[in-house]
Amino acid sequence: MNVFNNKADLNSFINNNNSLNSTIGFVPTMGALHNGHLSLLKKSTENNSLTVISIFVNPTQFNNQEDLAKYPRTLENDVEKIKSVSNKIIVYAPTVDDIYEGNTKSNHYNFDGLEHQMEGKFRPGHFDGVGTVVKRLFEIVNPTNAYFGEKDFQQLQIVKKLVEKEKLSVNIIGCPIFRESNGLAMSSRNERLTSEEKTKASIIFKTINQAKILFGTKSAKEVSEFVSKTFKNNQTFELEYFEIADEATLLPCIRKSKNKKYRGFIAVFVNKIRLIDTISF
Ligand code: PAJ
Repeated sequence: MNVFNNKADLNSFINNNNSLNSTIGFVPTMGALHNGHLSLLKKSTENNSLTVISIFVNPTQFNNQEDLAKYPRTLENDVEKIKSVSNKIIVYAPTVDDIYEGNTKSNHYNFDGLEHQMEGKFRPGHFDGVGTVVKRLFEIVNPTNAYFGEKDFQQLQIVKKLVEKEKLSVNIIGCPIFRESNGLAMSSRNERLTSEEKTKASIIFKTINQAKILFGTKSAKEVSEFVSKTFKNNQTFELEYFEIADEATLLPCIRKSKNKKYRGFIAVFVNKIRLIDTISF
């Protein structure tokens, strides 16, 4: 298994193992890998000659220092999980300096308003940090195809916009959400939940599905009221936002239009741990 901590070693390995017609698949992650991450890796290994996974807890995308400090870091375990997919996968687990070269400041991006909705409202600076690190990683890895989960649907749309605006030559491939058997979307942050909280967290997927059904006959406003009410009396979960938004622009649905595709988006807190989910409506 090839694990590199710096871009020079990574690049010389890729150059020595890359032939003229080969494609590089890339899966950027922050580690604490679960089956959701592994599903992206599988897709990449099936469709590319080389696959690179990055494991890097990117400081510039955390607006909350406690969240950054408590983010799980489990490199050894992660490498074992990657091996279970294929031992040919190349792991890039850089230091902060290897990525930022002494300047941990984000670029400031205009993503045509995508960055001002939902996660952007509640996590100021988050998407500047994501844009900065993803662009940097693309420059280092130079992938043909890069795989992103729909779990972070807003991030997926923003990365597509980044590629368009910065004229980067990489295909962005969106992948479906992997879930626990109770419907909870897999997330590295789930590791911080107690088993009781994990069980109870099925309420997130359940509620968003009920909201989808209601949206068949009710307005977005009425559906949002239903979701707020559902969480109002809940002792364990606190709703941060629920929104029905246009998939392309991420603007909230005010009046339903037949020509638009909508999604429901939700963020909740359990004991200071923030969980998000989304489904197509
Ligand atoms: P991270 O949260 O580690 O997620 C890495 C990738 O895995 C993202 O594309 C995310 O959408 C995807 N993913 C997470 N949970 C998933 C699930 N349950 N099913 C399917 N895919 C899932 O997202 C980031 O890291 C960072 O912001 C990053 C892009 C690496 C930039 O730092």
